Amino acid sequence: MSAIAKLSLPDGQYLELPVLTGTANEKAIDISKLRKKTGYITLDPGFVNTGTCESAITFLDGENGILQFRGYPIEQLAAESTFLEVAYLLIHGELPDKTQLYNFVERVSLHAMIHEDMRHFFDGFSQNAHPMVILSSMISSLSAYYVEASGKASIEDLEINSARLIAKVTTIAAFAYKKSVGQPFVYPRDELSYCANFLNMMFAVPAEPYELDPEIERTLELLLILHADHEQNCSASTVRVVGSSMANVYASVASGILALWGPLHGGANQQVVQMLQQIHEDGGGISKYIEMAKNQNSEFRLMGFGHRVYKNFDPRAKILKVVCDRVLNKLGVNDPLLEIALKLEKTALSDDYFIERKLYPTLDFYTGIIYRAIGIPVNMFTVMFALGRVPGWIAQWKEMHEDPKQKIARPRQLYVGQSERSYKPIAERL
Ligand code: SDX
Repeated sequence: MSAIAKLSLPDGQYLELPVLTGTANEKAIDISKLRKKTGYITLDPGFVNTGTCESAITFLDGENGILQFRGYPIEQLAAESTFLEVAYLLIHGELPDKTQLYNFVERVSLHAMIHEDMRHFFDGFSQNAHPMVILSSMISSLSAYYVEASGKASIEDLEINSARLIAKVTTIAAFAYKKSVGQPFVYPRDELSYCANFLNMMFAVPAEPYELDPEIERTLELLLILHADHEQNCSASTVRVVGSSMANVYASVASGILALWGPLHGGANQQVVQMLQQIHEDGGGISKYIEMAKNQNSEFRLMGFGHRVYKNFDPRAKILKVVCDRVLNKLGVNDPLLEIALKLEKTALSDDYFIERKLYPTLDFYTGIIYRAIGIPVNMFTVMFALGRVPGWIAQWKEMHEDPKQKIARPRQLYVGQSERSYKPIAERL
């Protein structure tokens, strides 16, 4: 017999609600019949306590700092896997065998070019346009080129649409960077690995050969794996909501990119480095900034700290903190921002304000320092987050369409505005 929750309402109604149990014994009260049976709705700004779906893609345990993709711990995937293998795992639910992986990698490689007409779209952007707005516009524009992109077709042809998105997002990102620095676009090269191809498109110039550093390639692979999915975060929920109206997968992912851009979400990695830069330029002292972060009247927040789910160390941040050290040492980079970050972390983690609110460093706290070390400019940091997150968004979008319980997302509200009143001609208004 399934568990139930008993609800007694002030007007005497009584309702028994099914309680669902997740894989790790998490509990959920199914309120899908609540309004129909009682007329009541629930209210939960920011969905802090509200699940929107049952999902089998990613498991987070925020209290214990656990992250798993399809049951595989992020620590193992970061150490053993590749980004395209993780992408396949997220989208298809199982690790690929040799043939499946070969075919997936091959298909992605063959779709890295964008339609030549799309090159001219870049002429319309100003040179200092933020690359996230370019990325979202171009990804959305892809749906103008593919018949498989329309609504239902984009679900049936998700294999080819996924390969296009995962491949072309790197080309569009690199072209946006080249546009910002006034250098010629470098086209994709099918014989290069996914990460090597991206780095080549970003940093190669016609005037000289580009020497790929394997350390940088491996670091990028790791960064993309760590960003690949994160259950129902703001941008993944956006992709699901937009897709629930039968908008195509390109439009849904383009919406996710714009949600990710926000400084409270993926835009935090850029904000972290700008914050560290500000502290550095201000002499490197951190106590003033810790106090500002604790002052509820100040707008200032310790960017890269705090998370809706993690109330313990973000496991990705733990991995990145080690990678940070290793990469900067290997590349001989001595970045004063790392020292400031470590000081901030140490001080905040022993301060009651942060301890009481369970505010720990998240992956964004370290990614910016690593991106700087491998030559990625600060306005491309959130683009790098998006590159990693594309397979996760696709997996969430696919799962939503395959879920028989899913329907168009249309939340309710509690109306607190004016009661009915009659229109007054302007002559009678004071
Ligand atoms: C990502 O959801 C995901 O999974 C996201 C992500 C992913 O992989 O997709 O993990 C990626 O977005 C990571 C988070 C990046 N954002 C930042 O680093 C921005 C700084 N952090 C925050 O603004 C904040 O912590 C949020 C937005 C991340 C979470 O906010 P919540 O859960 O809505 O919590 P809250 O804003 O209500 O904060 C609770 C308390 C408040 O104080 P009180 O009102 O209780 O006194 O903690 C305080 C906040 O003022 N607080 C901070 C703080 N974060 C929260 N105080 C100072 N500095 C901070 N960074």
